[in-house]
Amino acid sequence: MDFTGKKGLVLGVANDHSIAWAIAQELLEGGAEVGFTHLPDRPDDERRKNRTRVSKLTDKYPNAKFLEPLDVSNDEQIAGIMAKAKEEFGTIDFLLHSIAFADRADLGRETIETSRDGFKLAMDISVYSLIAVCNAARSILADGASVATMTYFGGEKCVPGYNVMGICKAALEASMRYLAYDLGQQGVRINALSAGPVRTLAGKAAGVDDMLALYEHMAPLGRNITHGEVGKTGAFLLSPASQGITGEILHIDGGYHAMGSPGRLLDKIKQQQS
Ligand SMILES: NC(=O)c1ccc[n+]([C@@H]2O[C@H](COP(=O)([O-])OP(=O)(O)OC[C@H]3O[C@@H](n4cnc5c(N)ncnc54)[C@H](O)[C@@H]3O)[C@@H](O)[C@H]2O)c1
Repeated sequence: MDFTGKKGLVLGVANDHSIAWAIAQELLEGGAEVGFTHLPDRPDDERRKNRTRVSKLTDKYPNAKFLEPLDVSNDEQIAGIMAKAKEEFGTIDFLLHSIAFADRADLGRETIETSRDGFKLAMDISVYSLIAVCNAARSILADGASVATMTYFGGEKCVPGYNVMGICKAALEASMRYLAYDLGQQGVRINALSAGPVRTLAGKAAGVDDMLALYEHMAPLGRNITHGEVGKTGAFLLSPASQGITGEILHIDGGYHAMGSPGRLLDKIKQQQS
């Protein structure tokens, strides 16, 4: 995909397994100039593990223009990133938000037992951050720019185990639609990419390992998706090739979301019964 002359921000690379990195590689290899952020390191972490993990990846690309710490629960830091992007790029053509967080204790218990503080934390980092980032970026988003966020089917239907994060994704998807309306008046698009399970840090906490086998049996394609496939589809949403698409949830899940029955998994169950 050709991103020559395009500039933008990628928020949410933690390591080489991150979905944000799969998408960023497509952008970088297509010639885009990209600014990155990483989760701030603790002040007592002399090895700066978060930064090092990401810089190991971005250092290989001369068109990876900067790497700055960002905690999306901090409005000043968000403003700082947009000021940096303005200084480096003037305006931006794409913005990827690939960020979510929930306390493991809340993910591990039944949704009905979600704590008040855990709910607020998960909603703040996984949902409100999209609104905050879009608002802070508003003045530097070029006409025709594209924003993408990452979601999961657990926001549409109950996926046991996904719990409070499913509620966050439902709110994220609704936020995306309202942001599409607000940003549309300046010619800016925003969409959500709904990915099937992919092995990542956040994915592990959200129960991806259990989901992989289920998708393999239930999805029409009869397999799981790859990092490379999410990368390409994410890049498509951020590129002018998807011009005209906004407020959309695009599923990249081997077709799992289209199923209304367990499909071939049912055959397997029948076989076991006979
Ligand atoms: N892995 C999957 O199966 C899957 C499926 C569908 C959607 N998603 C979504 O994709 C997105 C990226 O997750 P991933 O699976 O690539 O895992 P990941 O762990 O690689 O990425 C999550 C990112 O969120 C960042 N983050 C967490 N708290 C933050 C904060 N306070 N400030 C700034 N950044 C913060 C982390 O640093 C990390 O870079 C998430 O929204 C996730 O819900 C993942």
